[in-house]
Amino acid sequence: MNKTKELPTRGMSRDTLFSKMEEVRKNDIKWKEGKAFSLVFHGGEEISNVIKDAYCMFFSENGLNPSAFPSLKKFENEVVAMTSKLLNGENQPSGDIAAGTMTSGGTESILMAIKTAREWAKVNKPEITEPELIMPITAHPAFNKAGHYFGVKIITIPTRGDYRADVQAMREAVNKNTILLVGSAPSYPQGVIDPIEEIASLAKQNGILMHVDACVGGIVLPFYRKLGSKLPGFDFAVDGVTSISVDLHKYGYAAKGASVVLYKNKELRRHQFYVTTDWPGGMYGSPAVLGTRPGGAIAAAWAIMNYLGEEGYMKLIGGIRDTTAEFIKRIEDIQGIQIAGDPDMSVLCLVSDEIDVFQVGDSMAKRGWHMDMQQFPNGLHLTITAAHAGSIDEFFEDLRRAVAEARGLGSKISGIKTSMAKGMLKTLPKNMVSKLVQKEGKNIGAGDSRPEKMAPMYGMMAAITDDKDRETLVKDALDNLFTPKGEDGYQQ
Ligand SMILES: Cc1ncc(COP(=O)(O)O)c(C=O)c1O
Repeated sequence: MNKTKELPTRGMSRDTLFSKMEEVRKNDIKWKEGKAFSLVFHGGEEISNVIKDAYCMFFSENGLNPSAFPSLKKFENEVVAMTSKLLNGENQPSGDIAAGTMTSGGTESILMAIKTAREWAKVNKPEITEPELIMPITAHPAFNKAGHYFGVKIITIPTRGDYRADVQAMREAVNKNTILLVGSAPSYPQGVIDPIEEIASLAKQNGILMHVDACVGGIVLPFYRKLGSKLPGFDFAVDGVTSISVDLHKYGYAAKGASVVLYKNKELRRHQFYVTTDWPGGMYGSPAVLGTRPGGAIAAAWAIMNYLGEEGYMKLIGGIRDTTAEFIKRIEDIQGIQIAGDPDMSVLCLVSDEIDVFQVGDSMAKRGWHMDMQQFPNGLHLTITAAHAGSIDEFFEDLRRAVAEARGLGSKISGIKTSMAKGMLKTLPKNMVSKLVQKEGKNIGAGDSRPEKMAPMYGMMAAITDDKDRETLVKDALDNLFTPKGEDGYQQ
């Protein structure tokens, strides 16, 4: 019989409760020490305290109905306006004025942009019954999710050698069902900006929409420009750009749960809104996916933008630019690893054609560092934030050791395993491969601590060519992650 955790009969005291929570978090990544390279954007104690205080001040308020909370209405509208100004929302070649809403994060902003495109197409291109969007393979999976949720077919095109979208391939993929083209500024995997100007112009020529995913770069890139970096067009100043997603809970240093989705004008934004008028509970209008919207996230975003102001962001982002330059310089000094492509901001991908980077990732994880592992090509992901200025020396000491280890006896282990596994898997009948996958999948993500050895899993994933089998493995891992286990006697 499975025994799962149940509500305790008696509640815990505050002291016991919080000391228990401290104990439970002991294996989490030490993000304050600059050991996390995504997931947490830590701007230091001073910034954290501002967003925490603002969040707590509006902890109970609900953005579902801003007319009940004029405070939240003001905050949200001003956050959207400030973000739009940074991205030339009022400086469009068409003369349009951008409009938007806040959402809970990049994924929700992207979901909304796709839903909006679909609704726009229903009105403006009624002959299309099976809408499609075209995006480079590097665009974030939130687009695939949006396509899946909203019934929009996703067509992916390859990138060029520099990891930027191959616009010629996009041109060839446009057909009578295309409603939207997508580019990233920058893409998550290699941190490069797609040729937004060319993609936007292609969209315009075809009378369709164009979304820029600036979830990562929307706040950083305008300041890089002000700091003197030469950047291609990526925002509403580019003719043909019709929507942009920008996360404030990443490089905006807001609290989690804060992003903005912007449209070229209010008319386009109307397609985002959801309304039902015949519910006995009253007429219901909702701007985005969520019903209840945490007032704290809206308030904290407004607070940090006003606390930092242009000067504060210049300083913070200038620091990130310097730290990134230092990372690049030191990476170039280590033989055997390189940075993929020529990243446009502070998002880097470490690759190697000599050693197994996943082994390097595992050695770094053993030393407490968290870097996402990537594929096509195999790489380790680095999102440089304000927190990394203080951990750079320790990082490079550990990285040199990790590279040396991967070069030594263990070098290419997962590569060899991958090719052995590839050979083996090829000779097995398909149903046996699927069985093996099911057996292996039971172990992935099952432990209580953070996994320290991801190289074998990535090795195995790379060896499995069937998409369904790969999906099974990841679903097994999700099952494991969301199955309670622990020291308190609640286990499967
Ligand atoms: C380029 C890009 N777009 C969208 C997202 C999705 O953002 P979120 O995780 O806030 O939903 C991410 C997240 O890393 C991203 O890097």
